[in-house]
Amino acid sequence: MEKSYTTENEIPEKFRINNIEQREYLMDGKLKKWDGEVADVLSPVCIDDGKEIKQKRIGSYPMLTAEASLETLDAAVKAYDNGKGAWPSMSPKKRIEHMEEFVENMSYVKNEVVNLLMWEIGKSYKDSAKEFDRTMEYIVSTIDAYKDMENNSRIQNNDGYINQIKRAPLGVVLSMGPFNYPLNETYTTLIPALLMGNTAVFKPAKYGVLLHEPLLEAYKESFPAGVINSIYGDGAKVIGPIIESGKVNVLAFIGSSKVANILEKQHPRPNRMKAVLGLEAKNAGIIMNDADLDDTVNECLQGTLSYNGQRCTALKMLFVQRGIADKFIEEYTKKVDGLTIGMPWIDNVNITPLPEIDKTKWMDAYVKDALANGAKLLNNGGKIMNTIFTPAVVGPVNDKMKIYHEEQFGPVVPIAIFDDINEPIEYITNSKYGQQASIFTKDADTVSKLTDMLVNQVCRTNINSQCQRGPDEFPFAGRKDSAVGTLSVTDALKIFGIRTMITAKDTDRNQMLIQEILDENKSEFITDRYLV
Ligand code: G3H
Repeated sequence: MEKSYTTENEIPEKFRINNIEQREYLMDGKLKKWDGEVADVLSPVCIDDGKEIKQKRIGSYPMLTAEASLETLDAAVKAYDNGKGAWPSMSPKKRIEHMEEFVENMSYVKNEVVNLLMWEIGKSYKDSAKEFDRTMEYIVSTIDAYKDMENNSRIQNNDGYINQIKRAPLGVVLSMGPFNYPLNETYTTLIPALLMGNTAVFKPAKYGVLLHEPLLEAYKESFPAGVINSIYGDGAKVIGPIIESGKVNVLAFIGSSKVANILEKQHPRPNRMKAVLGLEAKNAGIIMNDADLDDTVNECLQGTLSYNGQRCTALKMLFVQRGIADKFIEEYTKKVDGLTIGMPWIDNVNITPLPEIDKTKWMDAYVKDALANGAKLLNNGGKIMNTIFTPAVVGPVNDKMKIYHEEQFGPVVPIAIFDDINEPIEYITNSKYGQQASIFTKDADTVSKLTDMLVNQVCRTNINSQCQRGPDEFPFAGRKDSAVGTLSVTDALKIFGIRTMITAKDTDRNQMLIQEILDENKSEFITDRYLV
């Protein structure tokens, strides 16, 4: 096992970091200086400086006041100008050109952003680079999907009417991403929202703030003033007033249902704020006696412990049928104990430092609570090593234990053993959450029976594979407390727009009128130009 800390000298040259003391935020097309309160950023990576082992300080960022945040919001409101602003009125072609310019500018800061991702949230270098690349691909795919959407919105004649139906923007979007995918999940709402012609204010998650700093210049260069603005600070202080102002038209929030419910209620007229939410999940894996042992163990290993289990899509509960339980637990725990633990830059590292304060203690409490209620620690994990928690597998778990119900969002894996298939089915049906499930079996009848039941409980049933979001073309949704709205490359564009149309009686005069508009390119909306 690698160490749970490092020394400055041991940090490879390529991954050394220059502290970022951020004193600017993006408002109305300018990088505005901030000389108020700031917050220190501590990396989850611990450093041994010869005297003590402690989290490395890597910089600081502005803690805006409510007034400064409201002023920033007003820049987005002004740029939208009730839909009359330059951005919402711009042709899709020109908005795409701005977005393409942003993709290019973004590519220049890849190394800095990836390094910051690694240092701020402890994600392995490989996965941090993957997050960046996936996000770039997401933007390019979103541009292509937007072109398709526009190209498919042709002028038509139906039932005696000439018409053209498109999607128009909704207004000002407040976008807040989560700490586990601070770049990717922020952009999966921000980018489609902007392309559709909305203006936006975004606030980074509590962890994963500085990585947006190298991108501020790219936003400034690529988009007209006020189209995108950034705010920082204590969510309770800066977000409440923004929503209470009644000026936010769409809340795009990836986080907890508890916070989402508080935010939605703060709007003076909640019917005017559309919510696009990605929330908690407690995805279950059901492992049947006839499952392929090797494949199932590998999928469950990835599903439960990729990025230390800190994925909303992670498998957070395993139900194993009694006939395969001993063998599965033996093979699975062997693999868990074989995972590489250490600093995020180590080749093929699996388990890395956890960014959230006291996260190791919460994980420890889940394990202790399970043991106190009759479970056993099934592997050699469950140790706190500075900010690392060695992955713990506990079982058999039951409904008296917290880990049975709550989303652990970390490296503790609960295993329940079942005889009757109704046990996992009841668990999923009664769960507060409804994102995904995985079933592992070779039997077509079992797949059919379980799938037909699961599709009405969750939004993705994975057959002999782990739960996951990708490919990004797939719909990403959830029921109950797991999500509101569906995201995917195309669904996200739809969700940030509203259908709007023109129509005219199909008379000779109207045909000539429309033809004149088309021939002379008079309108940005009524057009038959193809976007290529
Ligand atoms: O945390 C939620 C992410 O969207 C999960 O994405 O399944 O690709 O890791 P992923």
